[in-house]
Amino acid sequence: IMKLTVLGLCGQSVFLEVEHFHVPGETIHAKSLHSEPGGKGFNQAVAASRLGAEVSFFTCVGQDGEGTACLEFLKKEGVYPIAQVDASSRTAYACVLTDCVGENRVTVYQGASSKMTPEFIREKREVFAQSDLLLLNNEYPMDCNVAVLELAEQYGIPAILNPAPAQKIDMELLRKFFLITPNYSEAISLLGEPANCVRHLPALFRAKGICRAVVTLGRGGALLIDGEQTISFPALPSRARDTTGAGDAFNAALAVSLMSGSSLEKAVEYAINVAALSVREPYVMPGLPTKQQVKLNFKPVHPREMEEL
Ligand code: RIB
Repeated sequence: IMKLTVLGLCGQSVFLEVEHFHVPGETIHAKSLHSEPGGKGFNQAVAASRLGAEVSFFTCVGQDGEGTACLEFLKKEGVYPIAQVDASSRTAYACVLTDCVGENRVTVYQGASSKMTPEFIREKREVFAQSDLLLLNNEYPMDCNVAVLELAEQYGIPAILNPAPAQKIDMELLRKFFLITPNYSEAISLLGEPANCVRHLPALFRAKGICRAVVTLGRGGALLIDGEQTISFPALPSRARDTTGAGDAFNAALAVSLMSGSSLEKAVEYAINVAALSVREPYVMPGLPTKQQVKLNFKPVHPREMEEL
C-alpha cells in the first residue's frame, strides 16, 4: 500500500446555506445549518484514505471536544492522526457560507493550527522516512513546511505543495517541491505579479524556475505545466451542489494517483474525476468519493496542448 503523509489544519466547520451572499450591513437568514470536521489538510487526508492510500495526518489541536472529535473522525476513516496538542489554544473553527449555485465564502479561525511547530515534526521524522509522498498546504506555519522539506530532501521523498490559502512564498523554497498546485488566485499570489490571463502563467512560472505545476481553474478545468509543455484539461460537466473542498479532493486524488505510478497527465485526469464527484453532495465529507465510486463513474478527460502567451 502507498503511504501518504499530509499536514494540515483540522477543526469544526459550520455550514450555513444562504440564497445569496451578504452586502455590508445586511443580515440574512440561513436555510440550513450543518456541522462537520474539516480543514484543507483534514479533507485531503480523508479523501486520500477513501481513495485507497495509507494516510498519516499531522495536525495541531487544542485540549477540547472539537479537537477530540476531529481525531476520532479520522480514525474511523482509517487515517492515522499524529496530533500536537496546544493547551493554550482552541482547536480551529471555520464558517462556510454556501449560496444557491454551490459557491462558497469561507472564514477560518486557525486556533491551535497556527501553533504547530517544526520541533514536533522533527521528533516524528520516522513517519516521513516511511512515506512515499508528502502533501502540504498553507494552513499552518510555513516553518513547519521548511522542516518537512528538509526531511523530504534527507529521505529523498517528493513533496507536493497545495499553496492554499493564498500567500506569498519564497521562490527558493517553492522550487524545492516536486509539484505545486495553486488555483488561479493562489498562482498570482505566488508570482507576486498580475497575469492578465491564464495563458501567461506557464511562462511566468518558468521564468521563476518553477517547471512543474498544476493550476486548478474550477469550471475552467486545470492546467498542467510540465517542463516545456503546457497541457490544458477541461473540467467534467457536473451539477455542483457544494464546491467546498473540491480543491482538497483534487489534491488528494492527484497524490494518490501519482503514488500508484501514474503519469502527471493521468493523475490530473483522475483528480478531475474525483473533484467532479466531490461537488455533487452538500458540504465536504459526504461528497468525497471512494476508490470504488470513482471507478464506477470514471469519465475520460481530453487534454490538449495549450498555446502560450
Ligand atoms: O478547503 C476547504 C476547507 O478550508 C474547509 O474544510 C474549511 O475548513 C477550510 O479550512
